[in-house]
Amino acid sequence: MRDSFRFLRAIIRDRRTVGAIAPSGRHLAACVVRSLGTLEPGSIIVELGPGTGIFTRAICRRHPRCHVVAIEIDRYLANTLDRALPQARVIHGCATKIREHLQKLGLDPSRVAAVVSGLPLLVLPDNLPARILDEVTETLPEGARFVQFTYSRLAWRRFTPQRLRFLRAYLVVSNIPPASVLVFSKAQHAPPDAGRLRRIKKPRPRGRRLFGVIPRRSRNISS
Ligand SMILES: C[S@@+](CC[C@H](N)C(=O)[O-])C[C@H]1O[C@@H](n2cnc3c(N)ncnc32)[C@H](O)[C@@H]1O
Repeated sequence: MRDSFRFLRAIIRDRRTVGAIAPSGRHLAACVVRSLGTLEPGSIIVELGPGTGIFTRAICRRHPRCHVVAIEIDRYLANTLDRALPQARVIHGCATKIREHLQKLGLDPSRVAAVVSGLPLLVLPDNLPARILDEVTETLPEGARFVQFTYSRLAWRRFTPQRLRFLRAYLVVSNIPPASVLVFSKAQHAPPDAGRLRRIKKPRPRGRRLFGVIPRRSRNISS
């Protein structure tokens, strides 16, 4: 409940940077963390826009031997999470400066193994979303994952995630509101239709419904 108050406070301060009506639920957090796949101990997981830290806590639990760095633009949320979660390094700053923040912490950006984003990329102003996605792709090594959650999977057509390949999406119906988890991997070169989210491989059949998480068949959502 306290998290909801903190979130509300952030919404009142700046609705556009928060871009949600409530913190994400634990089923969405579990889906985001599972989407990261297997990561080497000692590698760095970067989270953008942790808010009250629902994903951050889940990441720290699942990957206790990785460095978790969370970058949050709202000073109050960043300071509160920093105090509450000593396992993570919480930075008050902007997602456009991932490498700079890591260097200030004495961490080598080349050890970043995955980036998770809770950012409301669909509502951030001007070219900020493009600059953030550029920074993500500059930071990630080839093949590493970028996991983004969204309330509007189709609206992702607006974006041009250069050098990111769309792998799959999961719909978490039990979240309020229902949300999708989009999983990308960093490609070596921009695919010919860079900017379009497209299916590049058939997802492994899972046939399970876990905690309201429905693995969706990836399909070309740009058509
Ligand atoms: C939709 S909330 C998500 C919070 C949390 N991940 C969750 O799912 O409950 C988006 C968060 O991104 C933060 N944010 C927005 N723009 C940012 C930026 N440029 N850099 C870092 N954080 C940002 C907001 O302050 C907010 O906490």
